[in-house]
Amino acid sequence: MKINLNQKEYYGAIERNSIDFYAKKYQVYLEQFKEKKDLKILDIGGASGMFASYLSDVFKDNNCEVYVLDSTKYEEWEDSERNVRYIEDTVENLSQHFQKSSFDIIFMNRVVHHLVYNSWTKTHIMMAELLKDISGILKSDGRLFICDHFYNGFIFDNAPSFLIYKLTSCKIPFIVKLCKAFKAESAGVGVCFLSQKNWDRLLNKADLTIENAIFGSKGIKKIQHYLLFIGSYSYDNVMMLKSHLSPQGSPKVAPRFPQGSPENVEGKFYN
Ligand SMILES: C[S@@+](CC[C@H](N)C(=O)[O-])C[C@H]1O[C@@H](n2cnc3c(N)ncnc32)[C@H](O)[C@@H]1O
Repeated sequence: MKINLNQKEYYGAIERNSIDFYAKKYQVYLEQFKEKKDLKILDIGGASGMFASYLSDVFKDNNCEVYVLDSTKYEEWEDSERNVRYIEDTVENLSQHFQKSSFDIIFMNRVVHHLVYNSWTKTHIMMAELLKDISGILKSDGRLFICDHFYNGFIFDNAPSFLIYKLTSCKIPFIVKLCKAFKAESAGVGVCFLSQKNWDRLLNKADLTIENAIFGSKGIKKIQHYLLFIGSYSYDNVMMLKSHLSPQGSPKVAPRFPQGSPENVEGKFYN
């Protein structure tokens, strides 16, 4: 999905300010790849490419190739000092750019909830299909890292996901204005957050297993959260995933989140 100019500015700025945050979150995971040579890394929805550039520095002795695939082009892509290859295209066209089993590490930071289609149900189906395609370009010992938010419903688990999708994807000017007033940058474009249970289902459908997860920060409730039936939520949860379709065809294991307690600090909406 192509984002609008306001979103581009907003997300670009957030990404540029998130490098220390990601460096800290991913440090323990990246250590595991330090000894690997000829690393291939892809950052899907990598925006300005700052994180990708950080990765190319971290792995400068590993003979690594770092790619960014984003449906929007950012000005920073022109920076020739960076050792990053940029592709302006949507994740739907992944197979046109990359071969199967070619990447060691793939990142999807705050991007899955942007993969929206013309209905909430289709969005869920397509998210699973796209994640399946993405795991297809991972090497058998490769890892996919997803950083995204959980919106768990009060009474109805899917209610916040459904309502936020409906409101933000609505193109009626009054609703767009209303969403913008509540700081929804995606107003008129659409965004689809998932509950933790739905993430579990989605990853299972996409043949991905959660190997490790770090829960992010919990937000403080605001009035709109009650209106959207939000029971609990946490931002920037990090999941390390591997395909559970190993070359030997080992039996499927349903993804399960490891036990963990979200930090009780005020979070922000990144939508
Ligand atoms: C919220 S920003 C996240 C930026 C950065 N990864 C971060 O963690 O801050 C989402 C990015 O995903 C990109 N995006 C949205 N839909 C996409 C799609 N279908 N294919 C590729 N990129 C997409 C947007 O252009 C945007 O740059």
